[in-house]
Amino acid sequence: LRSVVLGCGSYLPERILTNAELASQIDTSDEWIVQRTGIRQRHIAAEGEFTSHLAINAARSALANAGVDAQSIDLIVLATSTPDNTFPATAVAVQNGLGIHHGAAFDLQAVCSGFVFALATADNFLRSGTFKRALVIGAETFSRILDWNDRGTCVLFGDGAGAVVLEAQEQSGLSSDRGILTAHLRSDGQHKSKLYVDGGPSSTKTVGYLRMEGREVFKHAVGMITDVIVAAFEATGLTADDIAWFVPHQANKRIIDASAHKLHIAPQKVVLTVDRHGNTSAASIPLALAVAVGDGRIKRGDLVLLEAMGGGFTWGSVLIRW
Ligand code: ACO
Repeated sequence: LRSVVLGCGSYLPERILTNAELASQIDTSDEWIVQRTGIRQRHIAAEGEFTSHLAINAARSALANAGVDAQSIDLIVLATSTPDNTFPATAVAVQNGLGIHHGAAFDLQAVCSGFVFALATADNFLRSGTFKRALVIGAETFSRILDWNDRGTCVLFGDGAGAVVLEAQEQSGLSSDRGILTAHLRSDGQHKSKLYVDGGPSSTKTVGYLRMEGREVFKHAVGMITDVIVAAFEATGLTADDIAWFVPHQANKRIIDASAHKLHIAPQKVVLTVDRHGNTSAASIPLALAVAVGDGRIKRGDLVLLEAMGGGFTWGSVLIRW
């Protein structure tokens, strides 16, 4: 069995926050933000608009793109670090919102690597025959955990959601066949204090704010990203030349450019959305996939390489024949 992508979709909150608007509120500038990160704007969820609402909209869009009914879904894996509530899982709110009352739904937390971890998790359930059709969602409202007085972090993040529909299909196992070819996940908790939220139910009972040592994250990012991509190439015998589209986690244009350069992936194969979306953590990859599928870049049969790195640190790669 292989996990084949049937479709993808996304949702962004209506409100756009530009760099110029931020510069009118805190001591920053469009030039500083664009030069260091490539970000020009981000979307911000409205008051009363929760992660589950973004996720339900993205899921509906993915189901429509796949041409399948919500009732055919028997697994929902939702990657988020900004759940509606401490519990229950935001995934069950999504399940209920879609009118699904069978199968299983749960959240997965690997910060910015969440979508890659969620895809790999769903892939294992599908390939083992446990479930048949999965919704894998990345959805975040990072605007709610930002310290809007900390210019070193609040300019970097945005809200949004993206989703893909996966189906278990019989395949011969060749790398030319459709589906997820390989997934590589890593984490190393010795870096847990370099990017974290300074609150939580067990420690402070408050939600807390995102804290980051930006330079430390930057220092480790490219090495970790290339490590899991080389692992994907070694596992499949494929190379950078075989890649049709590189869809990285959208944290920072400089990290993306440096990773692509180090891996000899041509710039025209890189899907870039960080300029419009900012860093939407677990939502960034499926948001970027929906853009590149929507504008006709990613087509059936294309080899698509995903990677992410984030808090923990966690990092991972997934190679998909679309
Ligand atoms: N506007 C203007 N000046 C700023 C801003 C801002 N928004 N933020 C910081 N500065 C200032 C600092 O105060 C500092 O000033 P000083 O020299 O007078 O002290 C100066 O800019 C340099 O600050 P640094 O933090 O050293 O800036 P750096 O060049 O490292 O850029 C950045 C910061 C963009 C955060 C960079 O470190 C980075 O991209 N790191 C990776 C972060 C990242 O991508 N995280 C997410 C990945 S993981 C995940 O996705 C969750």
